[in-house]
Amino acid sequence: MMDRNADAPWSQFDPEAYVDLNYRTPLDVDLLIVRLMRDHFSRCFAAGVPDSVRGVDVGAGANLYPALSMLPWCEKILLLEYARPNVEYLERQASPAGYDAAWDAFWGVLREAPAYRDVEPRDRFSEIVRVERANLLDLDGQRRWDIGTMFFVADSMSECPDEFRRGVRCFMDALNEGAPFAAAFMKESVGYRVGDHRYPAYRVNGDRVRESLGGLTAELEIHDLHHMVRPGHEGMILALGRRNAAVAVP
Ligand SMILES: C[S@@+](CC[C@H](N)C(=O)[O-])C[C@H]1O[C@@H](n2cnc3c(N)ncnc32)[C@H](O)[C@@H]1O
Repeated sequence: MMDRNADAPWSQFDPEAYVDLNYRTPLDVDLLIVRLMRDHFSRCFAAGVPDSVRGVDVGAGANLYPALSMLPWCEKILLLEYARPNVEYLERQASPAGYDAAWDAFWGVLREAPAYRDVEPRDRFSEIVRVERANLLDLDGQRRWDIGTMFFVADSMSECPDEFRRGVRCFMDALNEGAPFAAAFMKESVGYRVGDHRYPAYRVNGDRVRESLGGLTAELEIHDLHHMVRPGHEGMILALGRRNAAVAVP
């Protein structure tokens, strides 16, 4: 029996344990991803930043670096997340008290680029970031954003190939035509543990990621990063691009 998205213990997700496992000590691969994403967004907005850009990070979980990477470009950023403990974690991070020091190392990489240098990230983050509980699989193309990220979500929420493809499709259909995006995937993941709970994954490689994005992008770069962060996967895949002319989910 394959584990579907609805079967996993999302209400038991422990964001602090997840940060300890993945981000408290920044890994070289995440810092590399942040650099690549920063340079991609900087290139996309090189000709100027339109008024009132709205960004979205889908399945934001306990990771602030995708939202931080959108900070200079956006008037507003929405963090969509399904697991209640993660929603509460994100609400604390976006409160006027400011986000945890764990995220400073990622800003350290971002601020090496000119567009990020003059941003005061903590104030701006609490000013423009909002959090909403939502299911990626319910995004139906009615709401759209101008820039978007989705990190380790479509591949890390279910064992089912159809839910992976639908997750990618729902994310891409939440983007306006021309919207820059970044999406990351664990390569060949067999699932993962957070605290006492096990979460499902669908095994993807560069070809599967490219195939899932087929026909939805105007520009696409796939970075196949051979960094292992734990047993049970073979690296990470980063897709950078822009949404092409949007078509609603059938
Ligand atoms: C592996 S974590 C990735 C979290 C974070 N984006 C990161 O980069 O570390 C998978 C995330 O997907 C969220 N998730 C699972 N099913 C979801 C769904 N149907 N809609 C939205 N988020 C979902 C989980 O709660 C969790 O935060």
